Amino acid sequence: QPALLIDSFNRLHNYLRISLTERCNLRCQYCMPEKGIDLSPANHILTTNEILRLIRIFTLYGGVNKIRLTGGEPTIRKDLIDIIRGIRSYPTMKTIGITTNGVLLHRFLEPLAEAGLNSLNISLDTLIKEKFEFLARRAAFTRVITNIRLALDMPKLYPLVKINCVVMQGINTDELNDFIELTRDQPNLAVRFIEYMPFSDNKWNEKKYFPYEAMLKIIKQKYNLEKLPPNDKNDTTKWYRVNENSYQGKVGFITSMSEHFCSTCNRVRITADGQLKVCLFDNKEMSLRDALRSGATDEEIYSLIQRTLYKKEKEHLPMNDLATSENRPMILIGG
Ligand code: GTP
Ligand code: 5AD
Ligand code: SF4
Repeated sequence: QPALLIDSFNRLHNYLRISLTERCNLRCQYCMPEKGIDLSPANHILTTNEILRLIRIFTLYGGVNKIRLTGGEPTIRKDLIDIIRGIRSYPTMKTIGITTNGVLLHRFLEPLAEAGLNSLNISLDTLIKEKFEFLARRAAFTRVITNIRLALDMPKLYPLVKINCVVMQGINTDELNDFIELTRDQPNLAVRFIEYMPFSDNKWNEKKYFPYEAMLKIIKQKYNLEKLPPNDKNDTTKWYRVNENSYQGKVGFITSMSEHFCSTCNRVRITADGQLKVCLFDNKEMSLRDALRSGATDEEIYSLIQRTLYKKEKEHLPMNDLATSENRPMILIGG
């Protein structure tokens, strides 16, 4: 077996996404059902030490150099700052990111950066307050907008803030150009439009799906789009700049459904309850929690991870099959 985290299609996995909690302070329709989800028993959620041990194993043995903390909502987790500080102490770590809904960011912007965070992605699907409350089923719009502004006003701490906007037909397709306007005078902002993906209980249907090509059609009626090269060979985003550099920020598209990027996938995931998930759409999980708690050594755990990764599929099913296949709801995966 190879030393690094290579699967049977020779893809090198150096990016680990860890969900820190199953809880969230919003109830976004595309992520979870209104009534909420059944939470795992508290003792099934990985502890600070378990998380840091797993990251150490992935990093030391597997060469992982990028960690993204997700949820649920990662800022709800009390030990968030300790976890980031712990990750930062691993000398080969390059990127430490979080993906957050922004609701609590005002309390965290400085401590997160100080602890070692260097990638901040914030979800925002509409610029209209009433629509936000409909989509997220909570009244947090003003807070989120204020907090995004706060982050954008700290370019030294956050050289590039990414806004993630999930595009849904009939819901926010009329706002694409308003999102693009946000990039006009904001060099440290990237707006990314994401194709709506189907998960359990997330209201997805084919009529709400709005593909990349359709987004481009709307945007090109108003703007010139200049294509930019990907940041690296595993970048999931197709990048553009608007109106020949007169707009300072960037615009991107994550085309998970219309043009998936499985062939360059470098991502593995750990759920909050300690399951290794080698693909967003794969429900064959392996319990790292059981391995940790059975007293396995680092080498044994790493070998389990390698063996599970080796069974990773070449690519996920076509969109319409995903809509009917078994998976966790998004809130339990973390994106
Ligand atoms: P960067 O490190 O800034 O590139 O972040 P990211 O795009 O890896 O992470 P983020 O949490 O911001 O996710 C943005 C969107 O990409 C979400 O909708 C994710 O579900 C989606 N995404 C991330 N990884 C994968 C993947 O492996 N497959 C698919 N289909 N979508 C993914
Ligand atoms: N389709 C596409 N993206 C989604 N996200 C959550 N649910 C979906 C979905 N069904 C996004 C969130 C967050 C990121 C982690 O995943 O907006 O920014
Ligand atoms: Fe919470 Fe994010 Fe899911 Fe919305 S998408 S409910 S903010 S975890």
